[in-house]
Amino acid sequence: MENHEYDVLIIGSGMAALQCAIHASVTKKVLLITKTDVRSCNTYLAQGGVAVAYAAGDSSESHKEDTMVAGRFHNREQAVSILVEDGFYAVDELVQEGMDFDRDAQGNLMYGLEGAHSHRRILHSSGDSTGRKLFEFLWHKVQASPVECLENHRAQELLISEKGSCIGVATKDMNGRVHLFYASHTVLASGGCGQLYPYTTNHENACGDGFALALHAGAVLKDMEFMQFHPTGLYGNGGVKGLISEAVRGEGGILVDENRMRIMQGIHPLEDLAPRHLVSQTIFSHMAEGHAVYLDISAVENFDGKFPAIAALCRRNGVDWREGLLPVAPASHFMMGGVEVDARGATNIPGLYAVGEVACTGVHGANRLASNSLLEGLVFGKKAGMAIAEAPPQKVAALPLRKKKQPGKKNLPDLLDLKQMMFRYAGISRSAEGLGELFRYLRQFDVESLLEGGLLEFNDSELTTVFMLLTAWCIAVGADTRTESRGAHLRSDYPEEDPRWQGVSCTVDLFAKKGRIIHEFVKA
Ligand code: SIN
Repeated sequence: MENHEYDVLIIGSGMAALQCAIHASVTKKVLLITKTDVRSCNTYLAQGGVAVAYAAGDSSESHKEDTMVAGRFHNREQAVSILVEDGFYAVDELVQEGMDFDRDAQGNLMYGLEGAHSHRRILHSSGDSTGRKLFEFLWHKVQASPVECLENHRAQELLISEKGSCIGVATKDMNGRVHLFYASHTVLASGGCGQLYPYTTNHENACGDGFALALHAGAVLKDMEFMQFHPTGLYGNGGVKGLISEAVRGEGGILVDENRMRIMQGIHPLEDLAPRHLVSQTIFSHMAEGHAVYLDISAVENFDGKFPAIAALCRRNGVDWREGLLPVAPASHFMMGGVEVDARGATNIPGLYAVGEVACTGVHGANRLASNSLLEGLVFGKKAGMAIAEAPPQKVAALPLRKKKQPGKKNLPDLLDLKQMMFRYAGISRSAEGLGELFRYLRQFDVESLLEGGLLEFNDSELTTVFMLLTAWCIAVGADTRTESRGAHLRSDYPEEDPRWQGVSCTVDLFAKKGRIIHEFVKA
């Protein structure tokens, strides 16, 4: 076992991780740890851009209103104000620093339109490669900073002191060797959990590591029932092969069935640009009735010029986009819930922070507005980094660690079964009966002893399964508890929004505190 000491450890390498690292490193010694290589993250795959009220005639108030409407008013209003207001300055900083957002022939920034936005306000870079371009821009800054970076180290378990603070993380390298990294600030920036479902737009690394690490350490998770399904995954050979950006619908793409009948007409006034959950739910119900659904792109001018990465995705998967019809299916895309944090990324565990998709600041409410996620990473990654930079230095390496029980017998699910069960019972449509089935399945795997025992003994693939199982459990708990439909959480047995649930969060808290809405996690 090797021991190492830093001021700040950041687990993950997406947008929020890079922003946090850049800003924390102004005063602190920072190490970024990633389980494979730095580019293997959802940020790098992001096609859609950055939503910001930057164009003349637009306003932060309008961006805020659209965010709240899409989030079905479950959003934390204060966090949304920070997102849209600080977001303006964060994007302005990038523009001033030379980030090459797409411009027209006159050199003016171009603004795209996506679902549920009332203005054209989405900045893109190289058309549909915004995530990759932003990553490279920030990565360049990281490389010019004192931040150190360690690839191919898997975070196995957070180090929690006897007094309950997070004092670092235990990792395993590619040879299975354990390393203990000590720091007074540990930041989870490990992204989402789209891989919990058989159809996903997410990178294969998005297995819920951060949610599970936090839960295992005793952090509070909330709103985990709100899993967003993107309406248009490219569908082929019984699976989803990648994302077709909502920006394609912003440029005139429409959703049709096999008879070229439009499916979004009469569903919502914004039709194909309705909030994402409504579009996904509509496609899902058409598919459940045996229809095929296509994105008709015949009205999109210069498709391969505007969307080169999507055109290439089609080519790779044998879909000829020139025929104008792209087969689509909804796919898991973004977790709105996560580790409960304040605006500076602080969790209920001293020394533990979360930023980006793994965190729940409350900005997204019950359904994230399109292109607000890169913005969230920019804004809240920076805020957490700055807060950490200002914190007084602290030595933690000598503190005694909280004892964990010996892990019990390993009984883990088959991952394909877990994904199918999640889609069937905690996917786009849920019910008490279905969730009952899901709990019967999940209970076989003794979640309680996984939470009480240490995680160091698991090998890489076992650990992935443990993390996915714990995250799945949290989603199931939230989905079962929330007896209404709101945003991305659709209950067929409670099909309406219930005003009693507005702004009320389902919280998964191993150390339940008074005054919260608690689901008694372990007993569920
Ligand atoms: C998209 O391009 O449709 C995805 C962007 C996002 O998730 O906001």
